[in-house]
Amino acid sequence: MGTPLLFLLAFSFSFFSALSFSPFSPVDNHLINCGSALDAAVDGRRFVSDFHSSNPGTPLQSSALTTALCNGSPRSSSPQIYHTARVFRKPSRYAVEIKDPGTHMVRLHFDPFVSSNFDLREARFHVLVDNYVALSNFTVSDTLVKEYLVWVSQNKLVITIVPTQKGKLGFVNAIEVLSAPKDLIPDTATLVRDGETQKFEGLIKQGLETVHRVNVGGPKVTPFNDSVWRTWIPDDGFFKSSDLSSKVHFSGRINYQVGGASREVCPDFVYNSARVIASKSSSIPEANMTWVFRVTGGHRYLVRLHFCDIASLSLGSLYFNVYINEQLASKDVDLSSIAYELASPYYADFVVDSDNLGAVSVVIGRSNLSMAYAVDGILNGVEIMKMNNSMASFDGKMCRGMALKNWPRGNSGGLITLVVVLCLLLLSVSMLMRRKIVRVKDSFSWTKLPTEVSEVNLKVGIQSSLGGKF
Ligand SMILES: *[C@@H]1O[C@H](CO)[C@@H](O)[C@H](O)[C@H]1NC(C)=O
Ligand SMILES: *[C@@H]1O[C@H](CO)[C@@H](O)[C@H](O)[C@H]1NC(C)=O
Ligand SMILES: *[C@@H]1O[C@H](CO)[C@@H](O)[C@H](O)[C@H]1NC(C)=O
Ligand SMILES: *[C@@H]1O[C@H](CO)[C@@H](O)[C@H](O)[C@H]1NC(C)=O
Ligand SMILES: *[C@@H]1O[C@H](CO)[C@@H](O)[C@H](O)[C@H]1NC(C)=O
Repeated sequence: MGTPLLFLLAFSFSFFSALSFSPFSPVDNHLINCGSALDAAVDGRRFVSDFHSSNPGTPLQSSALTTALCNGSPRSSSPQIYHTARVFRKPSRYAVEIKDPGTHMVRLHFDPFVSSNFDLREARFHVLVDNYVALSNFTVSDTLVKEYLVWVSQNKLVITIVPTQKGKLGFVNAIEVLSAPKDLIPDTATLVRDGETQKFEGLIKQGLETVHRVNVGGPKVTPFNDSVWRTWIPDDGFFKSSDLSSKVHFSGRINYQVGGASREVCPDFVYNSARVIASKSSSIPEANMTWVFRVTGGHRYLVRLHFCDIASLSLGSLYFNVYINEQLASKDVDLSSIAYELASPYYADFVVDSDNLGAVSVVIGRSNLSMAYAVDGILNGVEIMKMNNSMASFDGKMCRGMALKNWPRGNSGGLITLVVVLCLLLLSVSMLMRRKIVRVKDSFSWTKLPTEVSEVNLKVGIQSSLGGKF
């Protein structure tokens, strides 16, 4: 082999690996540190203050009705965004600008601390993400991050926090709204129902909530080590132990390929570990690997399974079947016919209805094509995502209108209406007076007046229409 070729190979190798390692930078990237006058840095990402004085462009609206709260004694290990919260006594909104229409990730951070005036564990509220009910009648007793994937076609996304009734509180510690990687949610999946499979279309426009995200056979992956700042937890709590399976770890390079999973879809840290069933003799083990994930009934779920053959010694030796909720979802899966390479990641999306037991089960078992002295089943990662129900809710049967019913228009709108009327009154009085003065002084300034007036009118008009939504 001539040196030029080697050089070329080495060059293209480093070129492509450099390309694939460039960090993901979302077009829309709104990180909000709620209730803090200061910005906070978490894993090298800057969460911006929602105080109007620190951040004139703050997405927070109606700040007069809210309280900024500071945790007097935060745990030393807790990230800075959990040291403050913003507390709401009335429906309030964060509206962020969207420059890049498409799927967006929304993360809401809750850490219910106790301060001298408030016990945030007592808060009870609803959260709306655009037109979806993300949380209803929600209380939180421990640190919690909620993640949603929503399709945004407008030029803004609005998060509304609604105390359940007068006297109740709502709160949030931090908010993330980011453009999702373009290849994260495709439009099609496989629907598994009534023992049959069929094509599912329109996935991309579905609202999704992340319910479980696990790294099979590996350690916890924190946002710091994930390309899109996700958390993957170990699968031990979901795996029904099987004596015949084992964990494997791979320290080589994961071969991300065009058309397969990208590093943004799922990071190396998930693909480089797995659980496998392998045959060490001339017989193939009659064993399954089973995972059970608790879910709430009444919703459809997207089940994303991540595969990367880091265990086989050669291509073409691994075949297995996939069962979801005890139905054959995919048979004789042959990763090498999909990827043509070992250690090349791939994922498969299935849509299922939750059973009445409130669980989604995933089984990886031998196929009729499985071979002796080879790996006969593998799984690297699982994501379970809840779809919104027909009420556009992720949390119960309450629709958006019902969430706001304890806050009739007049309740929060009343004050604003009064202010608007007063403003208009003052404005017309001053206009009349100025008109008189101007007429006497100088007829030229007449032309300026109408634009000034319409500007003021415009602002008042926007305020009142925002207030009127509640
Ligand atoms: C909210 O939850 C509380 C306590 O679980 C319950 O008493 C109340 O009826 C619920 N409200 C709604 C509107 O579901
Ligand atoms: C990131 O991954 C490396 C390598 O596994 C590990 O040593 C480190 O602790 C991880 N960092 C965080 C913040 O999880
Ligand atoms: C493995 O799981 C499938 C689907 O649930 C089932 O049909 C099969 O009998 C199981 N095999 C064993 C050995 O448990
Ligand atoms: C495997 O082969 C057996 C016997 O031929 C057949 O009954 C069974 O349906 C096959 N299993 C699958 C998943 O195709
Ligand atoms: C989810 O909500 C959207 C409206 O935003 C609706 O079109 C869709 O049908 C809902 N999904 C389900 C499964 O009902």
